[in-house]
Amino acid sequence: MEEPEQIKVIRIGAEAVVSRLRWNGFDLVSKHRVPKPYRIPELDRRIRDKRTLHEAKIIVELKKAGVPAPAIMLLDRSSSTIYMQYINGIELKRALDELDPIKIEKIARRLGEIIGKMHLKKIVHGDLTTSNIILDKSEKIYLIDFGLSSVTDDVEELAVDIHLLDRSLESAHHKIRERFMKHFLIGYSKIVGKNRTLEILRKVKEIRMRGRYVERSG
Ligand SMILES: Nc1ncnc2c1ncn2[C@@H]1O[C@H](COP(=O)(O)OP(=O)(O)O)[C@@H](O)[C@H]1O
Ligand SMILES: [Mg+2]
Repeated sequence: MEEPEQIKVIRIGAEAVVSRLRWNGFDLVSKHRVPKPYRIPELDRRIRDKRTLHEAKIIVELKKAGVPAPAIMLLDRSSSTIYMQYINGIELKRALDELDPIKIEKIARRLGEIIGKMHLKKIVHGDLTTSNIILDKSEKIYLIDFGLSSVTDDVEELAVDIHLLDRSLESAHHKIRERFMKHFLIGYSKIVGKNRTLEILRKVKEIRMRGRYVERSG
């Protein structure tokens, strides 16, 4: 077996370093959770291991349920590193600036179906922004970055996913936000049902109001 060859560092985040690699003919991404010097070493190791394992498990669960996410190729617990399939594409954030409105509607609807499936499996993403959604060359959607995900069917937590998506559109893509969310919800309610969607949307509104209130008074 040859050693993985590092192609480039994609992102140095607060928690992890994400890199692109070539390994035995595969294009891979590694996500390495880095040690935090301010934590007690043993505790630090346990936290990184727990989060790495959690992220990998959630991805495997989702893939079983037909929710598109990068395939996990290898899990190196000794270094808190996940090796996964490299998705050759662009973040939704960037795609939204480039694609025509009809295509965007289709993508929004499909994303709604995907998030609906994920929520039916009681999985909440926890950081559902347009940077954590990748479109590949054939415009297939992949979800990534499950470090903050949790297993729950609490309406409030499900609503936070939709709120975060909406807010990430609000900041970067103001013009297409309404159109995107309309079509997203068509796809979402097709999977989770109309009543459940309305219930979750009521929570989304509540969360938004609370946010505004905090902004004004804080
Ligand atoms: N499997 C992957 N294929 C292609 N790009 C990826 C993959 N995983 C992560 N990336 C890229 O790296 C960035 C950071 O990865 P992410 O898991 O979101 O880490 P962070 O917790 O730092 O946000 C993503 O926004 C995406 O652009
Ligand atoms: Mg991310």
